[in-house]
Amino acid sequence: MTALTTRRFAVPTAASMRELGSAVGRACSGGDVIVLTGELGAGKTTFTQGVAQGLGIDEAVTSPTFVIARVHRHASGGHDLVHVDAYRLGSALELDDLDLEADLDTSVVVVEWGGGLAEHLSPTLLDVDIDRSDHEDDEERTVTLAARGTGWSARLGDDAAWPT
Ligand SMILES: Nc1ncnc2c1ncn2[C@@H]1O[C@H](COP(=O)(O)OP(=O)(O)O)[C@@H](O)[C@H]1O
Ligand SMILES: [Mg+2]
Repeated sequence: MTALTTRRFAVPTAASMRELGSAVGRACSGGDVIVLTGELGAGKTTFTQGVAQGLGIDEAVTSPTFVIARVHRHASGGHDLVHVDAYRLGSALELDDLDLEADLDTSVVVVEWGGGLAEHLSPTLLDVDIDRSDHEDDEERTVTLAARGTGWSARLGDDAAWPT
């Protein structure tokens, strides 16, 4: 699989990271998989909080560090969010092995530390790469979205969807 479309955003604050995540959440369809890459503290969980918001999920999203995955249900029939932390996984993520109480065809799956472990999960994959600035006192992050699969490529290409 090759990346078909990429977009890059300068994200100055945690609030704007949630806004970007929310725009991605609003663009999601059931079965989508989002793979988050970035060092500890980069903003992966913050981005995921935005995705939950965009999906219309009210429940608080925190890092699932002490469990591999957590399911956040949509209260009124929208997509559920499956939030995975793959940090401790030694081999490719197999969602079936997690015994999740979720219908994966209608859920959106977000995988922190998913690079190299989660790409096989869906033909409509969104790679989210979060880079911190080199300056200690600069909170800005650079976020690169890279779509694989025609579904996400079309959605990434929609300029109206993105915060500016
Ligand atoms: N531009 C920014 N984008 C995302 N998070 C930011 C930003 N600036 C500051 N932060 C803070 O950095 C921390 C990121 O933590 P978190 O999202 O848990 O990272 P990760 O899940 O990648 O380890 C949060 O405390 C957040 O408030
Ligand atoms: Mg995290």
